[in-house]
Amino acid sequence: MKILRAIHYEVLNEISCSRTIPQTILDVGCGNGSFTQVVSTTYPGSDITAIDTSVAKLFSTDNIAFFKGSVEQLPFVSESFDLVITVLSLHHWKEKGKGISEIYRVLKKDGRLIIGDPLLEDWMSNRILGMLMQVIDGGIFTDKKRVSEYLNMAGFEDISIRLIPNTMNSLYLITAKK
Ligand SMILES: C[S@@+](CC[C@H](N)C(=O)[O-])C[C@H]1O[C@@H](n2cnc3c(N)ncnc32)[C@H](O)[C@@H]1O
Repeated sequence: MKILRAIHYEVLNEISCSRTIPQTILDVGCGNGSFTQVVSTTYPGSDITAIDTSVAKLFSTDNIAFFKGSVEQLPFVSESFDLVITVLSLHHWKEKGKGISEIYRVLKKDGRLIIGDPLLEDWMSNRILGMLMQVIDGGIFTDKKRVSEYLNMAGFEDISIRLIPNTMNSLYLITAKK
């Protein structure tokens, strides 16, 4: 799907903007792991970990460590990862603030967070259209103001939120640094 390719492309592009190659990467809400595998292939020297609440979707590979678990209670010691990515998952989290705080905890100092997700901005800020899209997608979208609050409260810095091209003005790339 074009829109999926656009968000995955943008996340990969954002990872490549790092000054250094991230050695330890966590993919939160990895689904069937297909994008995790693309990241793993792109960064063969990095240790990749992936987590999802749904174990049924996970499959094992030699180079990716998969865990069943939730972002609200990550089963990793503090300061474990250089980079956390989470794509099209945030709107499914029951406790978004808690999830973002947990990600902050497991990131190393200067580590980066990259989120790709729909936000209730642009045409989706319309109450009816936004509601309709959430029903279709089966999640609860957040907006720029609230996601900034979650990130600030967790302690993140250098927060940036921008629209991803070719996603029908609906998907955003949210980046922040610990
Ligand atoms: C639409 S899929 C995204 C899959 C993948 N990230 C991608 O880009 O193709 C969203 C995933 O988030 C997972 N998820 C939902 N709530 C979660 C939570 N609280 N913690 C971790 N994963 C969660 C779901 O099980 C689902 O597999």
